[in-house]
Amino acid sequence: MRPVVIYGGSFDPPHRGHMALAAAALRQLRPAALYFVPGFRTPFKDLRPVPFAGRAALLRAALAGAGLGGRKEIKISSFEADLKRVVYTWETVAHFRRLHPGAPLFILMGSDCLAGFGNWRRPGFILKHAGLLAGLRPGFAIHRTAGAPFTALAGRFPRADSTGIRAELFLGGRPAQLHREVLKRIEKKGLYLGRERALLKKLLSKKRYAHSLHTAELALRLAPAAGAPQQKAALAALLHDCARDLPRAGRERLFLKRATRSALPALTLKEAPVLAHAWAGAAVAAEKFGVRDPEVLQAIELHSTGAPGMGPLARLIYLCDLANEGREHPGAGLVRKLAFKDLGEAFRAANYVKLVHAFSGGGWVHPLSVALWNSLREKKKG
Ligand SMILES: [Fe+2]
Ligand SMILES: [Fe+2]
Repeated sequence: MRPVVIYGGSFDPPHRGHMALAAAALRQLRPAALYFVPGFRTPFKDLRPVPFAGRAALLRAALAGAGLGGRKEIKISSFEADLKRVVYTWETVAHFRRLHPGAPLFILMGSDCLAGFGNWRRPGFILKHAGLLAGLRPGFAIHRTAGAPFTALAGRFPRADSTGIRAELFLGGRPAQLHREVLKRIEKKGLYLGRERALLKKLLSKKRYAHSLHTAELALRLAPAAGAPQQKAALAALLHDCARDLPRAGRERLFLKRATRSALPALTLKEAPVLAHAWAGAAVAAEKFGVRDPEVLQAIELHSTGAPGMGPLARLIYLCDLANEGREHPGAGLVRKLAFKDLGEAFRAANYVKLVHAFSGGGWVHPLSVALWNSLREKKKG
């Protein structure tokens, strides 16, 4: 009886590494069926992956790009996506065992994934019903993954870095690890924040748009250390200045919609009306971009003044707005360097640099910025 191969993953998005593994499995095992099983949502990854139907379409595009488009044995299964929850591999194995009684089952994976097999749920059940089929990826040699018996696929496979690919996509890049067909579909459908970037481009000057991209670039690099999900960091950073280039009257009207008492609305408009763009930005993000996430909205709202008690995402955006590569101010480079060593200290330094700049200009300083400084000093003393 010919074997059946199960290939689970988030495929968010599917890349050349996925296709290389699938092609090798087809060559080596000549299976009766190879199922791609996109997960509903993988823990510890992004909050909001592209929905199943979207990822299935991207998979078909990647298969076409890899020259596997016409292969009848390849199927895309909605088993995990349909359950609308995190599905463990043993459950998927049980499902395909029922579907193909008697056929040898194999779970296809990269060797980096195999290294974590010991932490999977019910490994005994999985090994009783299925074999592990692994392609070797650079840096993950066989001896490091010993502990579970597995069949190795011939060949070496490109390192899969979905996080890096998504970061590039969020910034409007065209990652080389993706097939042309996949990129085309991502662009056409405005996936991976493409829709948001297109709308933002219409609202901002060229210079401001470039600044937003620079801010997002740094936010994506620092997001893991900040404990902020990749997609949220990119979204908040891209949109933080979305109201900056609106005409003053409109900006102020939107500001008044969102500003809380602690923002001192009347005083802010009198003394430093430019600061209104931050709260107005949160209003635009909610109304025009459909952002509902309170953390993203808070990050936009507080990016300019800061405030005591900001959440991790808001702190990240505040920092990246000041310290990104596009800033020429010498303080920006120093804060950026510090951020890769100690994010908390860099955040405090960002607040310091902004306050010094404001004081040296001799102008009015927003009480929220001063309150932020005091709250950070108190924490340090404590
Ligand atoms: Fe701003
Ligand atoms: Fe900014």
